Amino acid sequence: MSPTFSAAASGPFLIGGEIAVNRLGFGAMRITGKGIWNGPDDRAEAIRTLRRLPELGVNFIDTADSYGPFVSEDLIAEALAPYGGLLVATKGGLTRHGPNIWAPVGRPEYLRQCVLMSLRRLKVEQIALWQLHRIDPKVPRDEQFGVIADMIKEGLIRHAGLSEVGVADIEAAAKVFPVATVQNRFNLVDRTSEDVLDYCTAKGIGFIPWYPLAAGTLAKPGTALDGIVRKTGATPSQIALAWVLKCSPVMLPIPGTGKLAHLEDNVRAAGIVLSDADFRTLDAEGRRKA
Ligand SMILES: NC(=O)c1ccc[n+]([C@@H]2O[C@H](COP(=O)([O-])OP(=O)(O)OC[C@H]3O[C@@H](n4cnc5c(N)ncnc54)[C@H](OP(=O)(O)O)[C@@H]3O)[C@@H](O)[C@H]2O)c1
Repeated sequence: MSPTFSAAASGPFLIGGEIAVNRLGFGAMRITGKGIWNGPDDRAEAIRTLRRLPELGVNFIDTADSYGPFVSEDLIAEALAPYGGLLVATKGGLTRHGPNIWAPVGRPEYLRQCVLMSLRRLKVEQIALWQLHRIDPKVPRDEQFGVIADMIKEGLIRHAGLSEVGVADIEAAAKVFPVATVQNRFNLVDRTSEDVLDYCTAKGIGFIPWYPLAAGTLAKPGTALDGIVRKTGATPSQIALAWVLKCSPVMLPIPGTGKLAHLEDNVRAAGIVLSDADFRTLDAEGRRKA
């Protein structure tokens, strides 16, 4: 039976000004094992979750070569290639040396290898959106930006983005290649990247908040969030997601899960419209608790 809810309710965004996606996407980091290492405990459930995405109107998936590593990209290809209108965005530039261990390597020859291997794993001719997972502080950032510009010119990448960066990094990168997206941690109780969000909103750059479901201590009884939860019948995570979506038209949240039921919960949040008053109350409460 086709669902009565859809990520389309979150409204559209044009990646790089040309590829239309529904703003509520999916983060594919959680279809891996503990510590984002190795395969998921329930592989069949991970595949089911991925295959449900197009039925729920989710056409923007975020992954990275380092999730598993390689596991997330491989599962996405197994479940969804040749994709039929889905945009699979991936990232490179972080190496893995065990569970929860991540080390940036930004040498141009390594970044090029990341892209070539992601193309192979995802079974595509071109990566629609490739993001530099971290700027490597050991390598001049212009060398990292330069190879991204080269790979765009060569057609290996269509659009490129950055992750965990400040406004100065975006401005420096934008001199070398058009920055289509920025992926920074942002949620109701973590506004550290608010200046970056404002910059992206002003420039029309897609802002991809990771850890978007966090509600922290606001999920406790007696808070304004709790009041809105009781009023709407939604969960604290759904309200946190609806709040994130309302922050900016360039906001592209990518809640992550390896569980079908959780995916459906998250997509239902696309249809939750917070009143301006509730939005402002949550904004103030989240800011106080941050
Ligand atoms: N650029 C970066 O540096 C960076 C860093 C981290 C993440 N990311 C990206 O951002 C995406 C989202 O980040 P995130 O996974 O850290 O945060 P998140 O999506 O806010 O939260 C994910 C966590 O919440 C659980 N969850 C998801 N939906 C739920 C639901 N409806 N009910 C209860 N629990 C639920 C998941 O576990 P279950 O699997 O059990 O549902 C998982 O533990 C990742 O998938 C990844 O693509 C990027």
